[in-house]
Amino acid sequence: MGEAVYPVPSEWAQNALVDAAGYDEMYRQSVENPEAFWAEHGQRLDWIKPFTKVKNTSFDEADFGIRWFEDGTLNLSANCLDRHLATRGDAIAILWEPDGLGEPHREITYRQLHEDVCRFANLLKAKGVRKGERVTIYLPMVPEAAVAMLACARIGAIHSIVFAGFSPDALAGRITDCDSRIVLTSDEGLRGGRKVPLKANVDEALKQCPGVDTVIMLRRTGADVGFVEGRDVDWASAAAQQSADCAPEEIGAEDPLFILYTSGSTGKPKGVLHTTGGYAVWASMTHQYVFDYRPGQIYWCAADIGWVTGHSYVVYGPLMNGATTVMFEGVPNFPDASRFWQVVDKFKVEIFYGAPTALRALMREGDDWVKKTSRASLRLLGSVGEPINPEAWEWYHKVVGDSRCPIVDTWWQTETGGAMITPLPGATPLKPGSASRPFFGVKPALLDNDGALLEGATDGCLVITDSWPGQMRSVWGDHERFFQTYFSTFKGMYFTGDGCRRDEDGYYWITGRIDDVINVSGHRMGTAEIESALVAHAKVAEAAVVGMPHDIKGQGIYAFVTCNVEVEPDEALRRELVAWVRHEIGPIATPDVIQFAPGLPKTRSGKIMRRILRKIGENDVSNLGDTSTLADPSVVDNLLANRPLLA
Ligand code: PRX
Repeated sequence: MGEAVYPVPSEWAQNALVDAAGYDEMYRQSVENPEAFWAEHGQRLDWIKPFTKVKNTSFDEADFGIRWFEDGTLNLSANCLDRHLATRGDAIAILWEPDGLGEPHREITYRQLHEDVCRFANLLKAKGVRKGERVTIYLPMVPEAAVAMLACARIGAIHSIVFAGFSPDALAGRITDCDSRIVLTSDEGLRGGRKVPLKANVDEALKQCPGVDTVIMLRRTGADVGFVEGRDVDWASAAAQQSADCAPEEIGAEDPLFILYTSGSTGKPKGVLHTTGGYAVWASMTHQYVFDYRPGQIYWCAADIGWVTGHSYVVYGPLMNGATTVMFEGVPNFPDASRFWQVVDKFKVEIFYGAPTALRALMREGDDWVKKTSRASLRLLGSVGEPINPEAWEWYHKVVGDSRCPIVDTWWQTETGGAMITPLPGATPLKPGSASRPFFGVKPALLDNDGALLEGATDGCLVITDSWPGQMRSVWGDHERFFQTYFSTFKGMYFTGDGCRRDEDGYYWITGRIDDVINVSGHRMGTAEIESALVAHAKVAEAAVVGMPHDIKGQGIYAFVTCNVEVEPDEALRRELVAWVRHEIGPIATPDVIQFAPGLPKTRSGKIMRRILRKIGENDVSNLGDTSTLADPSVVDNLLANRPLLA
């Protein structure tokens, strides 16, 4: 193919948990005899009642179901905390770096974290939270967010974290969908020196959520925010009154652990449901093998806990493995573009795991910001969330990693619980831009649009043909939607929604979503969600949203908007609509381009031909394909003539 290949450095091949031969052998075992493989690797957890059944899964409609280790019981918080107390109680579990430079960092040992979690678990119980109940968490990147997650896991409550950048409306929708009556938040968040009014957002959201009777509020900035007597609880003082003993609840392997809302091609965001045993095996095992993690190493995943990466690789995976996990409240370019690498130097970070969008933004600022830091502690780099373009990969490798550190480009999804296609640093020669080979137990395949299996080097729709322990189990409240979304497109297989190429060496290259989902700065968004936000505006009659290439964000948001007839669209309205979408969903949904259009290209049956809009968004208009089935082909001429000038 002519692309660059980076061989496994010899010290990695010699010292890593698995080398190339080891990978081949373990992979073979994992797919030839999954029962035996997972019976063995399931032992990595402390079980209360050991499982006797391993895998009980079917992707077929007739007997559809996904169950792993189903008769075992365990507690995930005990696996993250209690099991380490005897050997690593005084080791640091969480190294927290605040947003600004003026505040001290925090070091929280396993023993301290255990105590904090027990107190908070007791507080939840005192507030009436029971096993199986949903707890909504709307917190910034502070250690208390991890405390809250682990406290839920300790008592068997199901957490639903809502990213602290989401709007009150988006928060309200998620609270209502999972019917939670308790919300955890803070007075404000701090990001890049700016304050985020989290408590005010909660107060606003709760106007739509009469079922919420308890809000536990952490004081982060000490701002003077509203306090509703009888409903609001001060986190620190209430937790301090609780006992530091809280026996971990016995939880079934298939009992739910968390819900995390994510966008699909249609409808409202869906509550991806993960259960306990299989997820825990997957998160801890992938964390250990993908990062070649050894206890004592300082590990930093720069994701927010509002996304699945934060769940699996800031909190659960690392803590199960007894890691020291860095938690960073801020952003890569505050106070300046050296911040990431200053934090690396400050804590002597050995493993750094970040998103391509941040790397591209930093790359643009020039190499000096990186080079003035040492980064000598770094051994391994990781990438996640979107395809990493080879230029950014090379920069990451050469400038950030001083050509010394392998890069693990991990492909996975909220639905998969953890990494699925990824290099292992001691085993996999790297090709910039390729997530490379499947993790143990993952059986990827490529299909054509008609569902025919494609062999060899080819392009196709990426499916996974058999279950793996970390797989999501359902869509909260809508099991039928779970089946329809993922298992009905290609019968008997899990459809990822991604397009993919496989090369001669069996390496997988994710090419991006092939459904109506876009990936903006590694944040997944349904075009339908942005469209419905736009049409909720009084002046908008119709809207269609597509992705567009964007140098930093990977994909940007391109919105075609048809206004009501009496409206004369102008720059003021454009700005109003941008602000409106930010308000309805959150800043991450800010449209990059709004093109006003008197009409959208529709078939005679009234269906919008999104293919044409996508091409316009991609600025690839030389061949729009067959437009003869359009009800009014002149609509396209108008769209082409009035494209906004893009920088
Ligand atoms: O399109 C793929 C892209 O992100 C999607 C999943 O998004 P989300 O559920 O938010 O999870 C992100 C964190 C795991 C995938 O369908 N994606 C994720 N990682 C990669 C990727 N695309 C290419 N390469 C990756 N490493």
